[in-house]
Amino acid sequence: MATAASAPSIDPNVSTFVGTTRKLFINGKWVEAASGKTFPTYNPATGEVLANVAEGDREDIDRAVKAARAAFETGPWAKKMSPAQRGKLIWKLADLIEKHQEEFAQLESLDNGKPLKISRIADVPLTFEHMRYYAGWATKIEGNTIPLTLAGPTKYLAYTLREPVGVVGQIIPWNFPLLMAAWKLGPALATGCTIVLKPAEQTPLSALRLGELIQEAGFPDGVVNIVPGYGETAGAALAAHPEVDKVAFTGSTEVGKLILHAAAGNLKKVSLELGGKSPNIVLEDADLNSTIPGAAGAIFFNHGQCCCAGSRLFVEEKVFDKVVEGVTQIAEKMQVKPGFEPDCDMGPMVSEEQMNRVCGYLESGFREGAKAVTGGARLGNQGYFVKPTVLVNTTDKMKVVQEEIFGPVVTAIPFRDPNEIVARANDTIYGLAAGVWSRDIKRALSVAAKLRAGTVWINCYNVFDPALPFGGYKQSGWGREMGHEVLEHYTEVKSVCAALT
Ligand code: NAI
Ligand code: MG
Repeated sequence: MATAASAPSIDPNVSTFVGTTRKLFINGKWVEAASGKTFPTYNPATGEVLANVAEGDREDIDRAVKAARAAFETGPWAKKMSPAQRGKLIWKLADLIEKHQEEFAQLESLDNGKPLKISRIADVPLTFEHMRYYAGWATKIEGNTIPLTLAGPTKYLAYTLREPVGVVGQIIPWNFPLLMAAWKLGPALATGCTIVLKPAEQTPLSALRLGELIQEAGFPDGVVNIVPGYGETAGAALAAHPEVDKVAFTGSTEVGKLILHAAAGNLKKVSLELGGKSPNIVLEDADLNSTIPGAAGAIFFNHGQCCCAGSRLFVEEKVFDKVVEGVTQIAEKMQVKPGFEPDCDMGPMVSEEQMNRVCGYLESGFREGAKAVTGGARLGNQGYFVKPTVLVNTTDKMKVVQEEIFGPVVTAIPFRDPNEIVARANDTIYGLAAGVWSRDIKRALSVAAKLRAGTVWINCYNVFDPALPFGGYKQSGWGREMGHEVLEHYTEVKSVCAALT
């Protein structure tokens, strides 16, 4: 609490918010955890406690699920409200987020560590625009009329309805806390589901502030419930709960597999957005003026804590030295400091655990023969900062090339034969994203066609839009977020067939 108060230009509402123990949001009310327990969330720039939060566990999850179930079965959300009214509420929530955007930007920077200038221009605007996009979908959830193939046209009238899947459990990570909440809530609300959201234990604050705005917007009680707590307790209870119809998860591939097992009990629908080890491929004819900053941004944005980070930078041999030198120069110029400093380009890792994980990967890389052209270690000894790092001298089987580091660490890998690069790029258990840089659009498109990845960026990286589906091939997940694709995960299809004769 002390850190928040001493940070420069802190919004008074943010000081007040972090200054009191935050509660759980269940059935439209702010309540303590059944156990009475609380847990701290830290400011990763200092390691000090930022705020205390009620610690949700099995009993609280159960209460929240029951509230969501009642709201789904009998509440005004289900029984009275039209799609247009739902859409208006979602839009109203977007307006409220926009109105309070500076507060959200500050909370996000304090809790997660990211630069305030980034949460101001990326996390928060993407959040309210995402909500607006799904507000528009609320009135466009449609079925089809189906001409039966085996009957004459006048014998039956057959059609499909798209109905909400029901009570949805949503478990989200800490890298984009507010935006991940929006990615999950938007389509669930648009389709008429009710929700129990579990934010990550490292970053519960922005979701809790969002809960206050959900109340202010006038969503009926129980439609959205927000229960922070630890993954092994609250998260596991939500994934296993027999009255939850669907679980949506974003996080590690390891926990994604646990979610799947937990969901098996009542065969919940499952969607998963998991890890990545995305290849970013530079062909020798690329325009290096845009490729070099693009390749640096692909890995260093959000301190490399992005599931789609361009962490394997494959560069055609002829331009390898130039690209490595350029990315290294950018890394060395980056201002790595607390997110509230106006010139901060990169803040701390989200937690001590994450910093140690990243440093552990660096050490493993060095043991196996990798070399750091720049970076390669923790920065300072206060807060959880890691230097932006460029590794070379790797082989494709090293841990640092195969496993998700989730930190500001890129392995730069030269290649000679453009015909082999696709196989090397695809040599991973993951398949979330990829980048291709070339002036020859035909070559770039032909590489894109062969990549096994849910998103391919050509001559750009990290371009996100609510209309553009995002998700993974292989062990990067099941299903897609965003666009109209995600709506399928939140709806059941009912076929109705009426005899006409
Ligand atoms: P995690 O997968 O453990 O955490 C993500 C969410 O899952 C959090 O809300 C957490 O409380 C919850 N969770 C954890 N264990 C659970 C369980 N048994 N049942 C239900 N929910 C559970 O990720 P963590 O430990 O924070 O980070 C580890 C690594 O995961 C990172 O280094 C990174 O590689 C990857 N990761 C990937 C993300 C992505 O966007 N795809 C986001 C966060 C982490
Ligand atoms: Mg974990």
